[in-house]
Amino acid sequence: MRVLSGIQPTGRFHWGNYFGAIRQYIDLQHGNEAYYFIANLHALTTVRDSTLLAQLTLDAAIDLLALGLDPSRATLFVQSDVPEVSELCWLLMTGTPMGLLERCHAFKDKKAKGLPADAGLFTYPVLMAADILAYDADVVPVGEDQLQHIEVCRDLAASFNHHFGQVFTMPKAKILERSAKVPGTDGEKMSKSYNNTLEVFEDVKAQQKKIMRIMTDSRPMEDPKEPDTDHLFQLYSLMANDSEREAMALVYRGGGFGYGEVKKALVEVSQRYFGEARAKRDELAADPKRIDEILADGAIRARKKAGEVLKRAKQATGLH
Ligand code: TRP
Repeated sequence: MRVLSGIQPTGRFHWGNYFGAIRQYIDLQHGNEAYYFIANLHALTTVRDSTLLAQLTLDAAIDLLALGLDPSRATLFVQSDVPEVSELCWLLMTGTPMGLLERCHAFKDKKAKGLPADAGLFTYPVLMAADILAYDADVVPVGEDQLQHIEVCRDLAASFNHHFGQVFTMPKAKILERSAKVPGTDGEKMSKSYNNTLEVFEDVKAQQKKIMRIMTDSRPMEDPKEPDTDHLFQLYSLMANDSEREAMALVYRGGGFGYGEVKKALVEVSQRYFGEARAKRDELAADPKRIDEILADGAIRARKKAGEVLKRAKQATGLH
């Protein structure tokens, strides 16, 4: 299967991004032909600072590689390095009904709030459709929030194929199960917009402080507690091994422990869990030439595929 997904470089990756998506992308590079790109053209709809956007794009690439994305298995590239996609986007745009885009959440929500929206945000789903169709992707792993965009992509592909002949491969969404809950420091879902995140590559000391300040309930220490509904335990479970998890669950059920001890244990398991990736990240960050090479090589492979599909689409529409 050909698997493809894009990740917007709008901020540093946090544990929610990792356990909710990135870890699964990395797993999918085994046994599939995988394409992953950093969606800097999409990010341009929100990040309007050139230095920041360039930095976040590079950071995203280094982070993904450090976390195990293997450029000899998967094609990793930057969206804007493949101009074929922007050209394909125009071809799709000419057949996109306004009403379809008016119903899309990102635009609708902004409009409902009375905020100014630009054409980039409005046509965001068409660029995303071009991203997917340009590589003949079969499967697109995404979070639930992106499902509507995949539906738009399928609509556009179907109507293009209906009108011009069989050009595009019909993709399917693979909704990433939030296999495990990833609560933030306040116990709500971890999300940048809630300001409750723990970043994967945060400074160790700063992160330790954040962990020690995670909100907990104020029940007396002696009370036995149910581990499965406790957000500290949920975070701990993501990174502890089975025997550690079972031992910690017993501690909870037995009562008479302090949350401070759990937090210390969480600091330890998280440092262990991401230790190797941190070391790898330092190594990669010290070798920017290597990152450039990886991304340039990814762009060559991606352009080859996207070029074939664009040629098909241009021929079908009479643009050759
Ligand atoms: N819109 C996606 C997000 O915010 C990122 C993205 C851009 C994407 N193009 C894509 C995801 C193509 C999957 C396929 O998460």
